[in-house]
Amino acid sequence: MASRISLTRFLVEQQRVDGHIPSQLRLLLEVVARACKSISQAVNKGALGGVLGSADSENVQGEVQKKLDIIANEVLIEANEWGGHLAAMASEEMDSIYLVPNRYPQGEYLLLFDPLDGSSNIDVNVSIGTIFSVLKKPEGSPGVTEQDFLQAGAQQVAAGYCVYGPQTTLVLTVGDGVSMFTLDREQGSFVLTQENVRIPADTKEFAINMSNMRHWDEPVKRYIDECLQGKEGPRGKDFNMRWIASMVADVHRILTRGGVFMYPWDKREPNKPGKLRLMYEANPMSWLVEQAGGAATNGRQRILDIQPSQLHERVSVILGSKNEVDRITSYHTAL
Ligand code: AHG
Ligand code: MN
Ligand code: MN
Repeated sequence: MASRISLTRFLVEQQRVDGHIPSQLRLLLEVVARACKSISQAVNKGALGGVLGSADSENVQGEVQKKLDIIANEVLIEANEWGGHLAAMASEEMDSIYLVPNRYPQGEYLLLFDPLDGSSNIDVNVSIGTIFSVLKKPEGSPGVTEQDFLQAGAQQVAAGYCVYGPQTTLVLTVGDGVSMFTLDREQGSFVLTQENVRIPADTKEFAINMSNMRHWDEPVKRYIDECLQGKEGPRGKDFNMRWIASMVADVHRILTRGGVFMYPWDKREPNKPGKLRLMYEANPMSWLVEQAGGAATNGRQRILDIQPSQLHERVSVILGSKNEVDRITSYHTAL
């Protein structure tokens, strides 16, 4: 039987053979994976662990926090603050950046995360996940400020997510393709189960929240309308639809079998660029999708090229199979 490759071995070999993961980054990724294992345990216990329901608090975006949003945030902070690999962290669930306390050594990386994505699915036992993005602290600046985090997604040095579904799967890129690791609960370790993940360029599956249709912009309406016309319409084929309402699970499906995911700008709140957050949702997912041969835009621009101006900035998101994303983007730019 071929020997199983654990995440630890995978990272050590990446560090040793390819030399493109410095030891601090390897440690960081191991620690994030360990935190995800712990979040997975809490998610798994559900009602038995008393972790379901709301927490009587709101985050900076005015969303009611679930107990598990807060637990996952604390797990990630506690796991990461003492190892010496980080300078600071930022999270969907914290208004401002979290500096590594002075009593611990400071590292050279910045970690951003959505501790629990798909909060509306927690209590109903549907897949949720953790999304993370790693940047390097700019050289030369003493201390860390929010400004140090405001780097375009193209500057990421690692990105990934962990989906807590029927299986717990960690998906990772360090800029050399996408790999998937499945949690072996008996062994307590993530095991490499897929390397060189590729998204097919064409698809017959789209993911969008159709209840917002009346608020969409013309290019989005046109694209979905053409899909809905099926074989008889301009696309000449029938399309299927999926919407899990956990970006992490929708993106996991796209990395597994292709498709296109959209959370576009709409007219409900015209001053907001979109619903999803650029720095800890769209950027890491866009890099994973590009690393797997797909594409990701806001309708007009590659997401990874957007220069952020705020930590919690929102963005319109279109990502997945390359030919579909190119088509939707061309519908936007044609106007
Ligand atoms: P979060 O739970 O981290 O706030 O993110 C939820 C996001 C994303 O995961 C999902 O695609 C989308 O919100 C679902 O939004 P709707 O409920 O509007 O469909
Ligand atoms: Mn989210
Ligand atoms: Mn979240």
